[in-house]
Amino acid sequence: MEKIQVNGISLAYEKLGVGAPLMLIHGFPLDHTIWNDVANLLKGDFTLILPDLRGFGQSTTVETLYTMSDMADDLVALLDHFGIEKTAIAGHSMGGYVALAFAKKYLQRMSGLGLVASQAAADTPERKANRYKDADAVAQQGVGLIAEGMTPKLSANAGVQSFVRPLMEGQTPSAVIGALKAMAEREGLFTYLSSVSFPVVLVHGGVDALIPIERAREIKAVLPSARLVELQGIGHMPMMESPRGTAEGLRLLGH
Ligand code: MLT
Repeated sequence: MEKIQVNGISLAYEKLGVGAPLMLIHGFPLDHTIWNDVANLLKGDFTLILPDLRGFGQSTTVETLYTMSDMADDLVALLDHFGIEKTAIAGHSMGGYVALAFAKKYLQRMSGLGLVASQAAADTPERKANRYKDADAVAQQGVGLIAEGMTPKLSANAGVQSFVRPLMEGQTPSAVIGALKAMAEREGLFTYLSSVSFPVVLVHGGVDALIPIERAREIKAVLPSARLVELQGIGHMPMMESPRGTAEGLRLLGH
């Protein structure tokens, strides 16, 4: 992978394809390789930029606290590196939280937003407290327990599970703890999202066990122009469980 030095980290990315730019941001605690199938389907339609978020995959992290907005800063530096003024951005789950933080801070740099198995709401107090408990547990016992707990919730598909589990187990405790705290402290951007004027596409699995389909339907209800692509029988990993359905949805960001 190529890397740039930015904000005290080394940020790794892949860039491929031709056409209008589309950045694809992975979720927690994964890396850009979850998009492999979708990237193959979209590389004839878009110039794809696939970062590993700070700490994940081949990117490094800092030990200090950071926010979704700091992660958006890393990504805007990537756009500057390529001389790209405006891009569509689609994020999976936590990647969607980063895409929303990016939209709020760098609205003029965005031509469209895709939320794949994601949401615009902040954490409930209970979810937030659980994130801090998980962060403590990871500090003491490592990332194995997160990988074990999340694998069945990500997807019921055995092939997907056997891909994501080792991917999660390979992440560093620092990255997982940093991202858990950043997710816990993120703001709700539901009201903000209801006022945006660029194209918004929501791709969501009908049986997502981590972020229920209702979260996407709520966005559609306040932003009727959003295109909601509901994928029946699909869980939290639509880009792996239904690459064609996901690619079709994301193609709408090119129109
Ligand atoms: C993700 O899949 O990125 C995270 O599980 C999202 C979350 O925990 O809110």
